[in-house]
Amino acid sequence: MSQDIFYPDRELFKNSPIPDMESYRKLVKEFEDDYEGTWAKFAREKIDWFKPFDSILDESNAPFYKWFSGGELNVAHQCIDRHLSTKKNKAAIIFEGDNGDQRILTYRELAYEVNKTANMFKNEFGVKKGDRVVIYMPMIPESAIVMLACAKIGAIHSVVFGGFSADALRDRIIDANAKLIVTADGAFRKGRPYMLKPVVDKALESGCDSVEKVCIVERNGEDIDWIAGRDYSYNELIKHQSSKCEAEPMEAEEPLFLLYTSGSTGKPKGVQHSQAGYILWAQMTMEWVFDIQDNDTYWCTADIGWITGHTYIVYGPLASGATTVMFEGVPTFPDAGRCWRMVEEYQINQFYTAPTAIRLLHKMGEDEPKKYDLSSLRVLGTVGEPIDPPAWKWYYEVVGGSRCPIVDTYWQTETGGHMISPIPSATPIKPSSATFPLPGIMGEVIEKDGTPTPIGEKGYMCFTKPWPSMIRTIWNDPERFKKSYFGDCKKDGKPVYFSGDGAMVDEDGYITITGRTDDVINVSGHRIGTAEIEASIKKHPNVASVAVVGKPHEIKGEGIFAYIVLKDAPKSDEVADDLETMKEINQIIKSDIGAIALCDGMAFVPDLPKTRSGKIMRRILRSIIKGEKITQDISTLEDPTIVSKIEEIVRG
Ligand code: WTA
Repeated sequence: MSQDIFYPDRELFKNSPIPDMESYRKLVKEFEDDYEGTWAKFAREKIDWFKPFDSILDESNAPFYKWFSGGELNVAHQCIDRHLSTKKNKAAIIFEGDNGDQRILTYRELAYEVNKTANMFKNEFGVKKGDRVVIYMPMIPESAIVMLACAKIGAIHSVVFGGFSADALRDRIIDANAKLIVTADGAFRKGRPYMLKPVVDKALESGCDSVEKVCIVERNGEDIDWIAGRDYSYNELIKHQSSKCEAEPMEAEEPLFLLYTSGSTGKPKGVQHSQAGYILWAQMTMEWVFDIQDNDTYWCTADIGWITGHTYIVYGPLASGATTVMFEGVPTFPDAGRCWRMVEEYQINQFYTAPTAIRLLHKMGEDEPKKYDLSSLRVLGTVGEPIDPPAWKWYYEVVGGSRCPIVDTYWQTETGGHMISPIPSATPIKPSSATFPLPGIMGEVIEKDGTPTPIGEKGYMCFTKPWPSMIRTIWNDPERFKKSYFGDCKKDGKPVYFSGDGAMVDEDGYITITGRTDDVINVSGHRIGTAEIEASIKKHPNVASVAVVGKPHEIKGEGIFAYIVLKDAPKSDEVADDLETMKEINQIIKSDIGAIALCDGMAFVPDLPKTRSGKIMRRILRSIIKGEKITQDISTLEDPTIVSKIEEIVRG
């Protein structure tokens, strides 16, 4: 199937901003000929500036690039207020709860709620421009409202995914030195309430001295503890706030938000995004990649705790004046038809999800989509991990009725928005390829010295020019920022941004992402650093050493596998002991990081394959778990016999 090419149906794309390949090439050339001028043109056209910018791109302190310096804007104004003259009564957010309850907020209602919330933050909690607000929330409209309220007053939000544990939350609160935490009592999942506030209580037990107040949104109504003087009810306080709030003028480069993501060390990185560059690209990609039209209803199934939720549930859709659907539940509850029923019910035009969800829904209900009227769909999207051909084919044929292009969008927390992706109205699509860099994005597959990687071979996925929505720095750690992204690859002697991913280009120039080249694994499209999991496993008193690697997984794409050397190894016939230790280890991971990082498999091994200098040869461990032939030279290992011993344990 890799030879197949799918062309867009002209009838579906009549008002597209980039209607065909010729326009795409023209725009690519425009950027090539006048990079800064073309970006400036879009920035002037798309953003409602309070004050125009004085410079376009400032490279004087590379790689700490600055875009549109001197310009002033407000992202909440860009996403809400500026639409009020034309779209007051248009639905901004359509919410569906786990149990099917619905809420629709028009742009006018959203403005009202955001203003009241912004006033609450200022007046009740003393939040000022530049203060950090940690948001630990479920998928309810208040989460978007709270993010936008921060943007309105210039506070920097840091959303922490609701599946992270108290310890993980605490680390992020401390690193950001947050003043306010916004959470909910809990929410609903699969018909049952689950809790969030108790996790915040636990996180705040130690070390979070910067936190003054906790603001709690009521969602599931379950009992929670209240600490007098610290905990406040959102639902109570909101009643007393004015619905008028001036947008704080923000300089283009001031931080809009932090979002923590995993890297190759144990400590998560606080990725810092800007105001103007970020919102510009969120809006442009929303228009190009999803072909969002004024009457469209768009649904992205991500969680707001990840970058996809930030850019493509909240900021991108609202900046474009679109209607965005927010869903609290899971795609498999009450049955595998949930998503398709929602597509029919809301007449969804663009549906954006992760390959993991597609694989799961395919497995659970091959013909399920056929029971629903999915004819409203025009564009299907995927994100987060490579999509395998069987999942692609099912998504294209059964969900999209062989009518809707699939936009396989490649990007990262650090890139802010899409980087390599088809444009549905223009790009002929090859399954499982993210196709070409978007206009304005200088994506190249190169060797470390900048020479182009030969066709069909694996190289480094790099971006050789700065772009407006790129990460600005790692919060509190500018050196790590430089080293993580600008330390590996160069072009023309100058450091360029390296994504951490490998990629391949075919004879037609199509790019296929081959996966991470560092010690980060991608579980169900979520990035988890092996070092983080290893640090957690090492906390078990009987663990001497450990190496964690990714393991192919039918649904999750990649699963987590740990090779563990115990200090006091149970004898091989003591299976019960082994199971007990495994349970204990998973318990530690759950409380340290969260359930998303639980191991899918573990093996207790006598030792790890190490070089004489003590470096663990993870590549060998990866090959073993994949069942691949070991091609590495094992003679340089401290103990070459260990490889066959481990193989026997894992495969036996
Ligand atoms: C991977 C998610 C293949 C990649 C937006 C990247 C992909 C990491 C794709 C970023 C894709 C994302 N095809 N791999 N279309 N999209 N990835 O920061 O390894 O959570 O580096 O951002 O996901 O994950 P993150």
